[in-house]
Amino acid sequence: MKFGILTGGGDCPGMNAFVRAVVRTTLNLRPQTSVWGVVDGWKGLLDNNYTRLTKLDVAGLTSRGGTILGTTRVPELATDPDLQETLARNLHDNGFNYLFVCGGNGSLKASNALNTIARRENLRTKFLVSPGSIDNDVCNTVGSSIGFYSALDKSLDMLEWIRDTASSHRRVYVVRSMGRKSAYLALYAGIASGAEFVVTPNEVVDYENVATLIAERDKDTRIIVSESYPMTLDEIRATLEKIFVQRGIKREVRAVDMGYFQRGGKTSVTDILRASWISYRMVQDAFKNCDSGFYTAYYTGHSPAPMPLEEAAGDEASHDSIPKELLDFMLALR
Ligand code: F6P
Repeated sequence: MKFGILTGGGDCPGMNAFVRAVVRTTLNLRPQTSVWGVVDGWKGLLDNNYTRLTKLDVAGLTSRGGTILGTTRVPELATDPDLQETLARNLHDNGFNYLFVCGGNGSLKASNALNTIARRENLRTKFLVSPGSIDNDVCNTVGSSIGFYSALDKSLDMLEWIRDTASSHRRVYVVRSMGRKSAYLALYAGIASGAEFVVTPNEVVDYENVATLIAERDKDTRIIVSESYPMTLDEIRATLEKIFVQRGIKREVRAVDMGYFQRGGKTSVTDILRASWISYRMVQDAFKNCDSGFYTAYYTGHSPAPMPLEEAAGDEASHDSIPKELLDFMLALR
């Protein structure tokens, strides 16, 4: 058998643990299998750029952030049927029986498109896909995506550091969190760090009320803002400052973006274990000639059946909707 591994979309901690575990479990269980990394993600499939991987090539990777295979965003892949056809054919022509994918929504949808072509045209490659994204927005009705808890660890550190200065100066800090359309990263970081406010993407914020709560609190305040909330950090800061001046509230406001610092760095133990467990399960299933499927990042040791790719790729509900119970949870802890 011949296996390919691809990391797609934005890099995230846990992708390397995924690559390592696919290589190790494959070569330990069936040493005659060949395993290849696709260089630079989806673009590597277009260029037929593959590198053979040995057990030694993936040594020391469990906790390293980013992806050693590289990744490139190829947005046209979502809509260009000719491109999809080329990639599906390239995989077939290169003799890959399975492609193991770790990536975000774009990668899930691309895998589904290629799989549809491959099944329709009787091509040999099947697709085993796992969610890899700090945004936790990949068909996440069960579990969480690989990389999410690692990004939360970084966010928690940053929010604690900010608290030191905020409390020393009794300042208000408006802090932007990554997460694309999803509020999960901002919300969970807010809950874990005990932030006073989390602004979700579609929220209608009553800034007069926020100012009142800030004034009553008369201490450090951290407002975590989800990436796709429409106001910029400077606009939020200016809005609060204007209200403070009008109402004689003597508080300074600063703004800071956690951005890419949330995405890099060490992988959390949860993400290492989940990525490794999913890989192990995928490899076992591949050796049984399983169908293509999506492996949600459930807990290590848990084995629900993989979802059909088409069903997983069609799950848009989790992208931007946060259960009300989680919002209430945040408010109750404030
Ligand atoms: O999907 C991960 C993510 O970091 C999002 O939170 C963010 O919106 C986006 O990627 C940034 O993308 P890029 O790396 O292309 O700037």
